[in-house]
Amino acid sequence: MPYAKIIGSGGYLPPRIVSNDDLAADLATRQIETSDTWIVERTGIRQRHIADPGMTTSQLATRAAQAALENAGIDAAQVDLIIVATSTPDFVFPSTACLVQDQLGASGGAAFDVQAVCSGFVYALSTADAFIQAGRANTALVIGAEVFSRILDWNDRSTCVLFGDGAGAVVLSAQDQPGILGAKLHADGSQSRILCAAGNVAHGKVVGDPFLRMDGQAVFKLAVTSLARSAHEVCDQAGVDFTHIDWLVPHQANVRIINFLGRRLGISEDKVVITVDQHANTSAASVPLALDVARRDGRIKSGDLVLMQGVGGGFTWGSVLSRM
Ligand code: UT7
Repeated sequence: MPYAKIIGSGGYLPPRIVSNDDLAADLATRQIETSDTWIVERTGIRQRHIADPGMTTSQLATRAAQAALENAGIDAAQVDLIIVATSTPDFVFPSTACLVQDQLGASGGAAFDVQAVCSGFVYALSTADAFIQAGRANTALVIGAEVFSRILDWNDRSTCVLFGDGAGAVVLSAQDQPGILGAKLHADGSQSRILCAAGNVAHGKVVGDPFLRMDGQAVFKLAVTSLARSAHEVCDQAGVDFTHIDWLVPHQANVRIINFLGRRLGISEDKVVITVDQHANTSAASVPLALDVARRDGRIKSGDLVLMQGVGGGFTWGSVLSRM
């Protein structure tokens, strides 16, 4: 049975950077009070990248995919599976993955989207891993891409300061040696209302609430407990001693969530990749972006054992354990 191995990664962030001070000044024009101090103390976020109006999720995804393909030394024509994790697709349909396939010039293989909000990338990675293990794909692109700035209520300070736009991607290849060692996904639909954008398009109109709404404290608590449990679960499944993990690459929502998680797991801070300060929460893009940053700056090396974790709306969570 083949293993799926990550052989390349790439990321793309829109060029426009909005600092906390920029955001506070903008909100102040609408009599909404926030500050760099509040945002940094409560979240660790210092800035976010925001896509200009003409830039779409598929364009961000394509740029990240091109960087990942180049990093892997793979031609787009070799890709026989594209999975895009996104909650902010370009269209109702076709899928963003089909648009990316066209922009890459990679036609012919399977292409589809996965919708699991901030857990989307680990859901997509686990799905691609299963395709490769089953012999149904050889070379897969797994992408997390979002323009969350488009579904934020910019008059709601409790959410609009938290998110940013971006895309991250990995190339998976069928190999004899691992590779991905384990993957475990979960959802609890009874908690769907604690983080949602509960609107849709019907009869030519937006029906319901198109903006992201969140019970921040409920999400915070569930995130820490579910990810801590999930870390041990995936290691047990793979028969790997948890203490052998070289790097934790968790979903980047809030540095306090990441620090709580690290302490609960007893993993030292220098083994945890953090990008939330620079990227804010880019939902499905956060894990592949963080992975790519740490691969490119030389922290994550070939042979390292990496635990990637996602958590978010649905409520969904999951972990993928991979030998790099
Ligand atoms: O990908 C998963 C998605 N999301 C998450 O993981 C987020 C999880 N939750 C969190 O990160 C935190 O709960 C937040 C960062 C959202 C909020 O932090 P908190 O420590 O739970 O703050 P809070 O909601 O208890 O609010 C404390 C105070 C409130 O004022 P009062 O009622 O004490 O007077 C808020 O109105 O902070 C106020 N507040 C703000 N003040 C300045 C809320 N947002 C802001 C803001 N600037 N942007």
